[in-house]
This record gives sequence, structure tokens and C-alpha cells, in this order.
Amino acid sequence: MSSTPAITLKNDLFLKALQGQEVPRPPVWMMRQAGRYLPDYMKLRAKYDFFERVQTPDLVAEITVMPVHQVGVDAAILFSDILVMLQAFGVEVQMVPGKGPYIPKTVSTLEQAKQFTLPDVEDALHYVMGGIRATQQALDGAVPLIGFAGAPWTLLCYWVEGKGSKAFDGARAFCFSQPEAAHHLLGLLTEATIAYLNAQIAAGVQAVQVFDSWAGLLAPQDFYTFAFPYLKRIAEGVKGAPVILFARGAEYALGELAAQTPAAALGLDWTADPARARAAVGDGVTLQGNFDPAKLLAPIPYIQQQAREMLKAFGKRRYIANLGHGILPNVHPDHARAFVETIQAS
Ligand code: CP3
Repeated sequence: MSSTPAITLKNDLFLKALQGQEVPRPPVWMMRQAGRYLPDYMKLRAKYDFFERVQTPDLVAEITVMPVHQVGVDAAILFSDILVMLQAFGVEVQMVPGKGPYIPKTVSTLEQAKQFTLPDVEDALHYVMGGIRATQQALDGAVPLIGFAGAPWTLLCYWVEGKGSKAFDGARAFCFSQPEAAHHLLGLLTEATIAYLNAQIAAGVQAVQVFDSWAGLLAPQDFYTFAFPYLKRIAEGVKGAPVILFARGAEYALGELAAQTPAAALGLDWTADPARARAAVGDGVTLQGNFDPAKLLAPIPYIQQQAREMLKAFGKRRYIANLGHGILPNVHPDHARAFVETIQAS
């Protein structure tokens, strides 16, 4: 494996917080901070289609560094999408402007599921690794770069349903009626994701986050059947960088995620209670979150006051300030900056 030259960071608060080291103040970044709401991103969006942006390393770098320069966050997250993993399996994924992802050929039977085998992810997604190298040049050590992937369960939701959905009833029904097919695909996604995240690390990301955005749609016992074992395997299989697991809507599982996986950090959505979360996980893991993204639409003094409340509730140790889910597309950049600056002034 090729080794990446060590990067000297000007701001390593995020990595220190992940490792549980003392920090003068908590680091802050925002999920989905790359793209979505910055005017300069909107300009690129008008010029290039979604997968063109995702597949062009120079555009990836330009979009990824935007929130670092324009909002002042303490970490960058690579501009890409979780659904590129399905493309690595040969599945066609379209991004329909104004609507979201669309997968014309979904999977619904065991026979179809069994046709899929493990792809060469590094080859299929080589442009992501190119984007990472270009981004590290552009960042020039300003802040650490976060890589990411979708969790197997969340990816299966799209693979089965073919588009976004409120409750992904079809994907849940698929798991319950065809568990063998579901576990075959979840197992393949898991192996591919481990290879993918390790390739991202080899290309230069300094931490990785696994997004299980739809974890909360499963009943606890089903989460422990169709999601948890795969998250655990991924956290165990990723080497050389800290792993953040974000199982949105599964606050009840925080204790198990902390005790049974080697994750360095656990993400919290805004429905989780900071003190209860800390009590559930103990002191050995970093917590990340969990400002309600809709609060960034409120007046700036309210954002500042609420951000300070959040800091008080989490404390400064083993904590990374973030939103409880992705930033909303209609947030004014001044409001995002007010959130970030309030944390940084603490
Ligand atoms: O910070 C970042 O934005 C980094 C890049 C990033 C994108 N998607 C870019 C994107 C990340 C980390 C994601 C993760 C992602 N993608 C998730 C998990 C996190 C979450 O929000 O729950 C999921 C479920 C997806 C799938 C996906 N991609 C959907 C449902 C959509 C459409 C709706 C939306 O979120 O905008 C996308 C499209 C997408 N991915 C866009 C961006 C910037 C918008 C398309 C565009 O700008 O043209």
C-alpha cells in the first residue's frame, strides 16, 4: 500500500478531541457542510451536474475547502455522496435536481441479490481517492479532512426502495421477508465499505464517519439484527484513523455502540439528551452533535444562546460540536458562522 506523507496540521483540535486529549475548547464542524447552502457552491451546481462534481477531483477539493475558508470550521468533510458505493456495485444511481437520488433498477428478490459480488472498490471509486489527494493539497494542513461512507442498512434502504422515503417501509419489509437476501447484501456492503474507508485513509483522510441516517427507522431488536453487527464490523475493520459512528435515531444503542465497537466517537442527533448520552457511553468515547439544524434558521442571538446551552450540557471533554443532522439548504451563511464562532469563543 502506498503511504501518504505525514501532514503537519495548523489546527488539530478535532483529532485531539477524537483521541480524548485535552483541548482548550471543543472543535466544531457541521454535517453536510460541503455544498447545500453556500452561494459559491450554488454557482458550481449551476455549471456541473451532481456526479460530475463528485467525480472531478479539482471540484471536490474546491467544494470541500469552501466551508473551511468561508465559515471557519475546524474540520473538512470530503465532498462526495454515500450512494457512490452502490455505483461501485454496478448499480445505476441518478441524482434528480430538486428531488434527490433515483435508482431505476432496485433489488427485490434473493435471486437478484445473489447476482452481486464484492467489487474492486479502489478501482471503481478511484476518483474519490483523487479528490482526497487534491483536497489535501488545497487544505495545506489548515484542518483535518474527514472521509465517510454510508452504513450498510442506510445504503440498503436506497438500493431496495430506489429513492428517498419517509419510513422506507419497502426496505424494512425486504429485511423481514427475505432476510437471506438482506444479509447477503448487507455483508457485501460491509466488506466493500471497509475496503473503501481504508483506501480513503491511505489517500490521506485523517478520520472517517459512517452515516447510518436511517437507523432510527428500525425497532431496537431489528437494529441489532440488520444494522449494529455491520457497524461493528466496519469499526473493527477500519485501520489507521479514528472512526465516528452516527446511528441517527438510535439513542438507545449508544451504550452498546460504545461498549462493543472500537469507535472513537459517536454522533448524536438532536433528539438525544447530552447528559443521558454521556451516562450511557462512559468516559472512553467522544460524543459529537447535536444542535437541531432548524435552529440555524432562527435569529442569530437565539443561535448563540442555544449553542452556549449545548456546550454547557456536553462539557468540554471528549466532545465535538456539530449539528444533529445535515445543515439545511436554506440556512444563511451568517447563521452558520454565528454557530461556529459561538463554539470557538467558548
Ligand atoms: O458535507 C457534505 O455535504 C459532504 C458531502 C455529502 C453529500 N451527501 C453531498 C450531497 C455527504 C456527507 C452526504 C451524505 C449523504 N447522502 C447521506 C447521509 C447523511 C444524511 O444527510 O443523512 C445520505 C442519506 C445521502 C443520500 C442523498 N444524497 C440524498 C438523500 C440526497 C438528496 C437530498 C439532499 O440531501 O440534498 C443527496 C444529494 C446530495 N448529496 C447533495 C449534496 C451536496 C445535493 C445535490 C446537489 O447539491 O446537487
